[in-house]
Amino acid sequence: MADDKAKVQQVDETTTPAVKRSFFARVGAHYRKWWWLHLIILVVVVLVITLPIVYVAYPRIAQSDVNKSSLNITNLVFSNPTPSSIHANQTQVLTNKASYHPTIYAFNASISLPGASAPLSTVLIPRLQANDGEIINVDATLALNQSTDAVANFTMAVLGLESFQLNFYGRPDLKEGALPREKVSFNKTVTMNGLNGLRGFSLEDLMIASDLTNLNGTALIPNPSIITVAMGNVTLDVSVNGTQIGQSYLTNLVLAPGNNSVPLQGTINTTQVLGLITGNTSAYSSGVLPLGIRGISSVYNGQEIPYFSQALQANLLQTPMNITQVLINSGLGDLATVL
Ligand SMILES: *[C@@H]1O[C@H](CO)[C@@H](O)[C@H](O)[C@H]1NC(C)=O
Ligand SMILES: *[C@@H]1O[C@H](CO)[C@@H](O)[C@H](O)[C@H]1NC(C)=O
Ligand SMILES: *[C@@H]1O[C@H](CO)[C@@H](O)[C@H](O)[C@H]1NC(C)=O
Ligand SMILES: *[C@@H]1O[C@H](CO)[C@@H](O)[C@H](O)[C@H]1NC(C)=O
Ligand SMILES: *[C@@H]1O[C@H](CO)[C@@H](O)[C@H](O)[C@H]1NC(C)=O
Ligand SMILES: *[C@@H]1O[C@H](CO)[C@@H](O)[C@H](O)[C@H]1NC(C)=O
Ligand SMILES: *[C@@H]1O[C@H](CO)[C@@H](O)[C@H](O)[C@H]1NC(C)=O
Ligand SMILES: *[C@@H]1O[C@H](CO)[C@@H](O)[C@H](O)[C@H]1NC(C)=O
Ligand SMILES: *[C@@H]1O[C@H](CO)[C@@H](O)[C@H](O)[C@H]1NC(C)=O
Ligand SMILES: *[C@@H]1O[C@H](CO)[C@@H](O)[C@H](O)[C@H]1NC(C)=O
Ligand SMILES: *[C@@H]1O[C@H](CO)[C@@H](O)[C@H](O)[C@H]1NC(C)=O
Ligand SMILES: *[C@@H]1O[C@H](CO)[C@@H](O)[C@H](O)[C@H]1NC(C)=O
Repeated sequence: MADDKAKVQQVDETTTPAVKRSFFARVGAHYRKWWWLHLIILVVVVLVITLPIVYVAYPRIAQSDVNKSSLNITNLVFSNPTPSSIHANQTQVLTNKASYHPTIYAFNASISLPGASAPLSTVLIPRLQANDGEIINVDATLALNQSTDAVANFTMAVLGLESFQLNFYGRPDLKEGALPREKVSFNKTVTMNGLNGLRGFSLEDLMIASDLTNLNGTALIPNPSIITVAMGNVTLDVSVNGTQIGQSYLTNLVLAPGNNSVPLQGTINTTQVLGLITGNTSAYSSGVLPLGIRGISSVYNGQEIPYFSQALQANLLQTPMNITQVLINSGLGDLATVL
């Protein structure tokens, strides 16, 4: 036993020089032996910290920034309508106050009125840099074959309402610097002025030809929106208190923003008109007829455009027609004095 103790003592004595080795040398030795464990721990720690940032926080920040951005449509031109398509040339400005300005890759966005049961169409939004004030131009032919109902609701909203909303929805890829590509939801609703039922519509310089059936003049059509729309050849019914007295036509009608002054041709049943204004018991003995004008069809390149026809039919225009003035304009002032 004593021998053993002595041995232990000896062992202790022989190990003392090792204990005296420098702290750094020991650390060095430890790392030489355990470097791989430390590397694994380091990698795990780095991943534990960065993975949530890259895969949890970053997508959330990216999505939240995309949510906060907004669109403003500054120009929208509809042209070349067919029953199943229309060309749209649209300029929109992106507002992005976030400090990140990621790349948003090209994506298909469905366009719809908010709450609609089906989209109006799908449009390819080009790749863009999400800078504040970035201008996005979409110049494309929209297929309108997804839902005739959605298209008709859209044209009715554009023509009939003071303002309407349009929703763009898609799931683009987004990339910020060296971070990975990330799918985000792009769900933007834009509020726009509509054509407000063409309120303010009026007729000027009306004349009837000496055959007393052909009528012409100028239609003044205000368009308070930024939308330009080519509606082709438009036929309208002209009535007084619900009784049709004629039809009128607007050829190659293009409604641009602001006041439009377009030539109007028409036919009118003079017998009916005279019946309305002559005689002491007539309802319109002042000679001023309250016209009700309702579009019935839009024809473009020989094809009826159902979604325009429907929108026109849903919108009644009202304007007075002073028959005395029309006769004077027509060089038939003598007739006016007789009435
Ligand atoms: C983004 O907006 C959608 C609604 O459009 C919402 O469901 C989502 O939680 C928002 N995401 C973030 C990260 O703000
Ligand atoms: C959208 O753009 C128009 C014209 O550029 C501007 O008058 C309007 O204030 C803008 N609207 C918003 C919400 O930024
Ligand atoms: C679309 O609009 C842009 C900007 O307003 C214009 O430069 C371009 O020529 C238009 N494209 C067509 C086909 O009219
Ligand atoms: C958009 O949709 C069209 C037709 O479905 C498809 O060919 C095209 O690849 C899509 N583009 C993108 C960027 O998803
Ligand atoms: C169109 O409008 C009608 C009446 O508001 C509605 O019942 C219908 O669901 C709408 N259609 C679509 C495709 O949203
Ligand atoms: C709509 O028309 C396009 C081509 O004009 C076609 O690729 C697409 O499949 C059609 N979609 C439907 C729902 O009919
Ligand atoms: C887009 O956002 C609106 C309101 O924020 C929501 O009602 C709608 O369901 C969203 N659309 C999609 C396709 O998620
Ligand atoms: C109406 O027709 C007459 C005769 O054809 C013509 O002199 C006049 O300029 C036309 N008025 C309008 C507004 O087009
Ligand atoms: C308009 O028509 C209704 C019946 O359709 C009639 O009761 C009313 O008296 C008419 N008004 C005028 C001013 O003729
Ligand atoms: C004009 O109206 C009268 C009376 O309503 C009718 O008898 C006549 O057939 C109409 N003329 C034309 C050309 O429509
Ligand atoms: C409108 O009608 C005129 C005369 O019939 C025709 O020359 C023109 O091409 C038509 N316009 C459109 C857009 O179809
Ligand atoms: C109709 O026009 C004539 C000729 O300009 C004018 O004398 C008359 O006052 C007008 N009638 C009404 C009700 O405005």
